[in-house]
Amino acid sequence: MTRERDQSIPAHQAIAATRPQGTYRGAVVGCGRMGSTIDDEMVGMPYYPWPWAHAPAMMAAHGVELVAGADVDPAQLDDFGRRWGIKALYTDLREMVAHEQPDIVSVTTRPNERAEVVIALAEAGVRAIFATKPLCRTLAEADAMIAACRQHNTIFTVACHLNWYGPYTNARALIARGELGPLRSLVCHSPHSLSNLQSHTLALFRMFAGAPARWVFGHMDDEAAAAEQDDLSGSGYIVYENGVRTILNTHASEREWMLEFICDRGRIVSRNQHAWFELWTQDAPGSPDYSQRQFPYAWHPRSSMVDAIEGVALSIEAGEETICPGEFGREALEIAIALRESHRGGGIRIDLPLPDRSLRLGTRR
Ligand SMILES: NC(=O)c1ccc[n+]([C@@H]2O[C@H](COP(=O)([O-])OP(=O)(O)OC[C@H]3O[C@@H](n4cnc5c(N)ncnc54)[C@H](O)[C@@H]3O)[C@@H](O)[C@H]2O)c1
Repeated sequence: MTRERDQSIPAHQAIAATRPQGTYRGAVVGCGRMGSTIDDEMVGMPYYPWPWAHAPAMMAAHGVELVAGADVDPAQLDDFGRRWGIKALYTDLREMVAHEQPDIVSVTTRPNERAEVVIALAEAGVRAIFATKPLCRTLAEADAMIAACRQHNTIFTVACHLNWYGPYTNARALIARGELGPLRSLVCHSPHSLSNLQSHTLALFRMFAGAPARWVFGHMDDEAAAAEQDDLSGSGYIVYENGVRTILNTHASEREWMLEFICDRGRIVSRNQHAWFELWTQDAPGSPDYSQRQFPYAWHPRSSMVDAIEGVALSIEAGEETICPGEFGREALEIAIALRESHRGGGIRIDLPLPDRSLRLGTRR
């Protein structure tokens, strides 16, 4: 979704053109932190435009109406009902779908139960599923979710919401206009774990790369962790089908999450966990000198989760999800597993897709 105004049409039409045309019934399965309460924790992050949790983001999104919640824990459900003024509360998600007929369902349960919940929703005929990260624990589970959604014509979107975050949307538009030349490589400095937090990075990089990842090699930070199945941190090198490369560097400072988008004639850098963006461009064609320019921030920053949920409604209308489909979530997991497998093999090249679909990353809930 672009946030640039189309000047060729009247303003009211331009506003209408960026919004979903219909109104969709929204529901949340998993009324815990990500589904409902995480904004309570966002203290001291003034640059993070709320809401971040799925329920308030559904309330804020145009074209989506929050109508119901489901959670196996009655206490969470009760809190959800009081917070968001929702009376349609269910401990069984199938009952919720049968009675409330939601069009869009956010899945904000933990990864271990992701496949079971997503497949049940697709089988129940939900039009669009918006599932949080990490997608799941095994490649077989990812395959099964994608297949079930295809079979039942369900739009399957992974809620790696940075893919909709305004500054990244503007960065992508800058690169697409060709002003920086072709994209050459993507770099991430962050010590965080491969499956959990880096699933955001890998889904974002997949969108920027514009092609599937084809091979990787990796070096994990902890030998003992690499021998187990728990989520872990590690550095790696990823080559996409079109030649774009990614470098993941985990030897970074504790809270760092810095991304670089390196093009032929310039680069975009995002620092301090997506709070600060820089644009550097070549002074003149062929010049070795680069200068910093004003990055095109929006005057009115919006919550990426609100944009993402509107994006799901727009995907229903377009008949496809392109910003962060289930395949991007599966690729994030597949890369993370392949980096670990590379380490286990002594730093060898691992080609994708991985033939062994039983491979797992992450055991804790
Ligand atoms: N996108 C982000 O930025 C972000 C941030 C935080 C967490 N997350 C992700 O959100 C997910 C949930 O994490 P959390 O911290 O909110 O966990 P949580 O435990 O607070 O919430 C999960 C909820 O799901 C409920 N649940 C479990 N099985 C269920 C089922 N079958 N039907 C209905 N409800 C069920 C649980 O009772 C619980 O209330 C994780 O995958 C986590 O990685 C994403």
